[in-house]
Amino acid sequence: MTNINMIFVANWKMHGNFNDISKVKTVLNLIKNKKYKKIKIIYCPPFTLIKSFSNYFNNTKLNIGAQNCYYKSDYGPYTGNVNAKLIKSAGAKYIILGHSENRNEGETDLLINQKIKSVLKEKLSIIFCIGETIDEKKKKITFQVLKRQISKGLKGIKNTNKIIIAYEPVWSIGSGIVPSRNELEKNIKKIKKILKQFKFKNSVKILYGGSVNSKNANEISKIDGIGGLLVGGASLNSKKFIDIIKKTSN
Ligand code: PGA
Repeated sequence: MTNINMIFVANWKMHGNFNDISKVKTVLNLIKNKKYKKIKIIYCPPFTLIKSFSNYFNNTKLNIGAQNCYYKSDYGPYTGNVNAKLIKSAGAKYIILGHSENRNEGETDLLINQKIKSVLKEKLSIIFCIGETIDEKKKKITFQVLKRQISKGLKGIKNTNKIIIAYEPVWSIGSGIVPSRNELEKNIKKIKKILKQFKFKNSVKILYGGSVNSKNANEISKIDGIGGLLVGGASLNSKKFIDIIKKTSN
């Protein structure tokens, strides 16, 4: 990952069908240009599309990821669940974990930690989401929240080579509101401080996610310590996603 200066993750959430592969192709065509050789794109479609997307984009510059996984690493009688082993066999190389939409459904730090360990067992990479809610921000406990999420989520993990952190303030996701430059700079510094406290490598990439669009992407990406963007809504529209990539890579 050392030669990569910007990572773009497309989180499709619960959207998409096989015909959408044509949208993704237009993004691939763009990044074939030498100008984009230092960027990495990771598409995270729903489970149902992982196999077809991985087959189609095999040996291209596009990487495929999943949006979550079950915490058990072995096969077994777990109806309706999909673990890292199955995701790997479908061709994905990345898994988003700890997304606030899943934390909101009851995912705890402990469960996320178990999931992270199960993914590392399969040697896949993780996009580990952290971020404070609006109430936590108002109570001025963002640092404590991020510290808890990182220390518990990464408990017992010594090698962070396969971990990318995505800082996503919950109040920013899907709301059209992004933190001010000042606030974002401060929170990225907080994350770096926490990583240092727990002796995690300084080289861990930190992405920003939450209402990224072509108007704010450039400014956000210039903030010291930000190594990429996690894009939800805007990544469903390839024109918007391409605009974000173009604006950020200039
Ligand atoms: P958004 O979603 O870009 O639609 O705000 C980001 C995310 O939830 O990862």
